[in-house]
Amino acid sequence: MNAVIENILARRSYRALADKKIEKADLELIAKAGQYAPSAMNRQTFQITVVTNEEVIKKLYTAIPKYMEGIDASKYNFYGSKHLMIVSDLASSEIGQMDCACVAENIFLAAESLGIGSVWVNQLRNTSDGEEVRAAMTEAGIPADHRAWVICALGYPVEKITHKEKTAKIHFCE
Ligand SMILES: Cc1cc2nc3c(=O)[nH]c(=O)nc-3n(C[C@H](O)[C@H](O)[C@H](O)COP(=O)(O)O)c2cc1C
Repeated sequence: MNAVIENILARRSYRALADKKIEKADLELIAKAGQYAPSAMNRQTFQITVVTNEEVIKKLYTAIPKYMEGIDASKYNFYGSKHLMIVSDLASSEIGQMDCACVAENIFLAAESLGIGSVWVNQLRNTSDGEEVRAAMTEAGIPADHRAWVICALGYPVEKITHKEKTAKIHFCE
């Protein structure tokens, strides 16, 4: 098996993150991997917003539960991540969600290759229009005409996950 395939198979979502900073050079590399994702008709209208400002991160995780039901606001903090990559695209783009998913997977895989854990945090996609959420997004530098589809929460894993079988069907019609 080559190193790329090994990396894909090793990636897991991490929700227990160590209190250790990711170097900016690594964040730049991971974001670059996201930037090189495919996009429909190569439009590249998405933006990757790297948020390490702890005040802005707190504003985001404090605001989001105000616009959603069923979230325990007292526990909601993006798993304590101090490094977010928010992937957004034009709200008017029908295909933005798919482009952003490709970007996010590139981010997750690049992080894995550097020994950095990641997890998809989904709640911004339905709360981007909440006034307080939007204010925090604007402070982060996300364009006003963008909808945020994915928060990639990054951090060093407390412990490497090596289990979790994958069971989705693979079917060959030959
Ligand atoms: C569209 C999508 C939305 C997700 N939303 C969340 C989320 O809001 N919070 C979370 O902890 N994980 C979220 N995940 C991560 C999944 O729970 C995770 O990928 C799945 O359990 C498989 O585990 P693995 O990533 O370790 O292979 C999401 C994943 C996807 C693809």
